[in-house]
Amino acid sequence: MTEPRPWWQTGVIYQVYPRSFQDSDGDGVGDLEGVRQRLDYLVWLGVDALWLSPFYPSPQADFGYDVADYCDVDPLFGDLDAFDRLVADAHDRGLRVIVDWVPNHSSDRHPWFVESRRSRDSSKREWYVWRDPAPDGSPPNNWLSAFGGPAWTLDEATGQYYLHSFLKEQPDLNWRSPRLKEAMLDTLRFWMARGVDGFRIDVAHHVLKDPGLRDNPPNPAPSGGHKPTSPYDAQLHVHDKDHPDAHALYREVRAVVDGFDSRERVTLGEIHLPDALDRWAAYYGGETLDEIHMPLNFGLLNVEWTVEGLRRHVAAVEAAVPDGAWPNYVLGNHDERRLATRLGPKRARLAALLLLTLRGTPTLYYGDELGIPDVAVPADRVRDPMGVRSGVPGLGRDSGRTPMAWDTSLSAGFSTEPPKGLWLPLHRHWGRENVASQSKDENSMLSLYRALLGLRRERPALRTGAYRPLTGSSDKVFSFERRLGSDRVVVSMNLGDEPAIVSSQAPPVLSTLPGPVSRDQLRPWEGRILEPAGRTLSA
Ligand code: NOJ
Repeated sequence: MTEPRPWWQTGVIYQVYPRSFQDSDGDGVGDLEGVRQRLDYLVWLGVDALWLSPFYPSPQADFGYDVADYCDVDPLFGDLDAFDRLVADAHDRGLRVIVDWVPNHSSDRHPWFVESRRSRDSSKREWYVWRDPAPDGSPPNNWLSAFGGPAWTLDEATGQYYLHSFLKEQPDLNWRSPRLKEAMLDTLRFWMARGVDGFRIDVAHHVLKDPGLRDNPPNPAPSGGHKPTSPYDAQLHVHDKDHPDAHALYREVRAVVDGFDSRERVTLGEIHLPDALDRWAAYYGGETLDEIHMPLNFGLLNVEWTVEGLRRHVAAVEAAVPDGAWPNYVLGNHDERRLATRLGPKRARLAALLLLTLRGTPTLYYGDELGIPDVAVPADRVRDPMGVRSGVPGLGRDSGRTPMAWDTSLSAGFSTEPPKGLWLPLHRHWGRENVASQSKDENSMLSLYRALLGLRRERPALRTGAYRPLTGSSDKVFSFERRLGSDRVVVSMNLGDEPAIVSSQAPPVLSTLPGPVSRDQLRPWEGRILEPAGRTLSA
């Protein structure tokens, strides 16, 4: 059976947060050489691509999402040679490499911005969004920064405000400037020439705004059921992001990426539009599918963990993704609380099953395969600017960005620096919950992930088969079929605290829980992959 599909549809993506994966030079912060040294782990685990969060020169005001040079490596992470070695070794092992691309904003230390703010007549003034104050001296409109406060900062020297959708250290680039656009498209070419296999596009839907800078209207239903109410949520963000002009821009980006050479590349768009799946899906490019290969789908992060909640979400995604386009699912990343903490231990194992069996490319976040929990970062070690700025303990994103735990050696094998010198603390149970220990335990979270990844590799139905929800005998059991030609598997999960009777005669190929399995009963919070009768295991 053939699957004429590109690698990014059949494969699994693994997100590496470079600061926290492996420190090779003993400064307590991970680096590119460290990632290179751990490539064999990714092969062993069974993923197909790694996505590297930013490693570019940066003052690290937002941990690399404030880029001061789009075409280099911050000395903290190594240099371009280290990057080239990483790509070469990844490719030698059949792993693809995706890099982060941050087009909405640069760092305020980027030479482009330094030049832009020099004077109103600067040749790069129009590379950023500058506006005169309102008549009373206040900002030009009511837009807010996603990180709190106004989205405008006054530059005293030139008397104008500049726009920043995030920190004031992250001025927004002006994509309506043809010269800026060309310079940024060149940065894509730069990394493609170095062999990268794709780009994760940071806040892709923010890049273009209303050219008239109209005020956002108030949001009649703040919080939208997915985030706590904040001044930011109190506005409807109709003018400061998701502008229709972004679609033409992404057609250009796509043409640059697809047209570069014969390598098959992917673009992943970080697009949070949880209440507007149609607008989210529009970034695939409508019928022509000529924009972003995969707008990232964050719906599972906030899904209600009931049969109805899961079924509804998957149905909505299946319906929203245009014909011929490919879905994807995300369950964790560096902006979220850790999966194991969000969902709790019972659901976390089912989450692994769900993520790796739905129809669509999964993105795994480093450490979730060990069940690393959120780490309570002491106040004097809080690093995330969002957390520092809020002053509210636990509000920042540090808790989900802590170092990977490899083994029981000093600092869990992450660094030769003792734990106190690490940029963030290790999780509390690293002595027990680490790659070395869990790989020896067939019932560990790591062994579950590895078994699921292995099965996904083995079964065409799981990789690319059609999804069909099944109605089961219990309202606590979420079941669906994946089928490709004659290859068929059924996935069932009990979302309740009681055992559930299932009408299965087939032996399970995999259970998420250790211990004896019963053919006609799912244990509380047990998930299974079944081999419907009449089929053998081999693909
Ligand atoms: C989204 C990134 O994932 C997040 O970490 C960052 O703070 C913002 N974009 C701003 O770049």
